[in-house]
Amino acid sequence: MASRFSFLYVKDCRTSTSTRHLATNSSKIFSMHKNYLEAAVEIAQEAGKILMEEFFRPLDIRYKGDEVDLVTQADKRSEKAIVSQLTKYFPEHAIAAEEGTGHESASASEFRWHVDPLDGTTNFAHGYPCFCVSIALAQRDTLLVAAVFNPFYNELYTAARGEGATFNGKRISVSANATLSTSLLCTGFPVRNRKLIPNLQYYGEFTQRSHGVRRDGSAALDLACVASGRFDGFWEFGLNKWDTAAGVLLIEEAGGKVSDFQGQPYELGGPVILATNGLIHDEARKVALEISKRTPSPG
Ligand code: IPD
Ligand code: CA
Ligand code: CA
Repeated sequence: MASRFSFLYVKDCRTSTSTRHLATNSSKIFSMHKNYLEAAVEIAQEAGKILMEEFFRPLDIRYKGDEVDLVTQADKRSEKAIVSQLTKYFPEHAIAAEEGTGHESASASEFRWHVDPLDGTTNFAHGYPCFCVSIALAQRDTLLVAAVFNPFYNELYTAARGEGATFNGKRISVSANATLSTSLLCTGFPVRNRKLIPNLQYYGEFTQRSHGVRRDGSAALDLACVASGRFDGFWEFGLNKWDTAAGVLLIEEAGGKVSDFQGQPYELGGPVILATNGLIHDEARKVALEISKRTPSPG
């Protein structure tokens, strides 16, 4: 199978065989193992079909804790399909999946898939069609590929390190808006420990200082929308690795910037993420720091 992403698989082989030799045998390699990005896209789209089947069925909603952390049959079915297919294609790789059916420690592999089988469960449960499947692969701390798929609108975002980011097959880049006051921003509120995270203060202040702040309810799609220029910036506290892994690579490959409020590189699972088009980053960061002085936050 010919692919412009073939270099990614070469890395996975981890043999002393020369690159030239691997290239010669690439068709054999690809017939045995799917290319990472192609696999991520295929699996996200299959999981998306499951979400759409479930979207039109009566819901079986459960609460994961005592707050508003919902889980549905759709989250579980989607994750089952994703984990089973990833395991089939990449049996050596670790999988960190939100509903806990991955196999994180089963492998000493330096490759790890970060899977959110349904990002935006609350939206999904209420019939609001802003939800997605989010899948990313990291090699140690380096994100390699990302796929974010909203099956309702058939919107697919992809990225591969060094290869750029796309939306439905077309190259995307972050917005060119250079000031916070003319920006459209987005944020999110956690479904757990809701009272510990003071995001309302940030929401209010950023609303006053910009064209507005949306709260769309799917962090992976929010980040994808920064990558495609729909939003100029996004921040949120307390997100997990599976919420942000794919979106972070999308933004980096679309020319944006991702950090914490201090300007340090964002680490997956870190207490706060600030993701922008790069041009408004310092301005947004300074505002966030000002607010944090008045409002203690985990970031
Ligand atoms: C949630 C969504 C939401 C964000 C929450 C996440 P889930 O993920 O990404 O936008 O604000 O913090 O937990 O639970 O729908 O996968
Ligand atoms: Ca999520
Ligand atoms: Ca989820």
